[in-house]
Amino acid sequence: MLAIDETTITEAALAQMESTPDPRLKEIIAALVRHLHAFAREVDLTPEEWLNGIKFLTSVGQKCTEFRQEFILLSDTLGMSSLVNAMHDRRALEDGTKSSLLGPFYRQDSPTLPLGASIAGKGKQPDTVIYGSVVNTAGEGIPNASVEIWQPDDEGWYDLQKQDPSQMDLRGRFYTDSEGRFYLKSIAPTGYMIPMDGPVGDMIRAQRRHGYRPAHIHFVIGAPGYREVVTALYLSGDPHLDSDTVFGASESLVVSVNPHDDASPYPDLKSIRFDFQLAALAGEAESGRVGADPSQILQKAAH
Ligand code: BEZ
Ligand code: FE
Repeated sequence: MLAIDETTITEAALAQMESTPDPRLKEIIAALVRHLHAFAREVDLTPEEWLNGIKFLTSVGQKCTEFRQEFILLSDTLGMSSLVNAMHDRRALEDGTKSSLLGPFYRQDSPTLPLGASIAGKGKQPDTVIYGSVVNTAGEGIPNASVEIWQPDDEGWYDLQKQDPSQMDLRGRFYTDSEGRFYLKSIAPTGYMIPMDGPVGDMIRAQRRHGYRPAHIHFVIGAPGYREVVTALYLSGDPHLDSDTVFGASESLVVSVNPHDDASPYPDLKSIRFDFQLAALAGEAESGRVGADPSQILQKAAH
C-alpha cells in the first residue's frame, strides 16, 4: 500500500481523479490540485491557517443572496476576474473594445427603453447624455445591437444596495438605430467603495487597501454574429483610476465628461461619447461574463 505523506499526496490525489470522463473537467481539477498543493507547500500552511481559510470561504458563501454576490467580489478583488477577462479578449479573432468587470451589480432583466430615454428614475433630473456607436472592426455601424447599461447614482450606490433592492434604477437596455448609434440620458456617476460589510471587506481592511473603484458606467454590448463585450467606461480625472480595487480600469476605457458638445444629440447636456467595437464571432459564442445576476447564480447553485 502507498504511504501517504507530504511527498506522495499530490500524485495520489491526481491518480484517483484519472477516472474523470470529461477531459476539460479533468484538466481543470488536476491543475487546481497541483497548484493548491504547491501553494500549501510554499507557505508551509498550518492546520489553523487552512481552517481560517475554510471559515473565510464559508462566510463568503453565507453572505450571498439573490441581491448580493460575495464570491464575484472576491474574484474581482483578487484580480482573478480581470485575468480571466484578459485571456478571453486574447482568444478573440479580432481586437474589439477591451473587456472590463461585470461586477456583482449586473441584472439580467433591466427594462428595454427607446433611444434618448433617461435611465435615471424617481425624480432624478438627467444632466448627462451618453452616446456613441456600436461598430465592427472595419468601423461600420452595427444596427440593432443591444446596449445594456447600469451604473451607480451620484453618491456611488447601485439600486441593488438600496433599501428595496427589487426596485430597478439607473439601468436599461437600448438597441442601436439603423446606423449603429445609441444615445440615452443619465446622471454622471461617482466613484464608490466596494461593499465592505462582508468577509471581502474584512480582507481588504486587513490588507490596508482603500476599497475604492473609480467612477464608471457598465455596459454589455452584443449583436448577432459578433462577440458580446462586457465592459465599462471610466471617467477621467478620478483619483482612483490607477488603484482600482478590482483592477477593471484601463487606459483605453477612460472617457471625459464634455461640458458642451455640439455633436451630441442633446448639446445642452454634459456628454460622454464612446464607440464600442465588436469583434466577429469565431464559431460558437463564448460568454465573456465573469459573473451574472446574483439571483441567477443562487438558482444555479441550488441545482
Ligand atoms: C462594480 O463595478 O460594479 C463592481 C465590480 C467589482 C466589485 C464591486 C463592484
Ligand atoms: Fe460598478
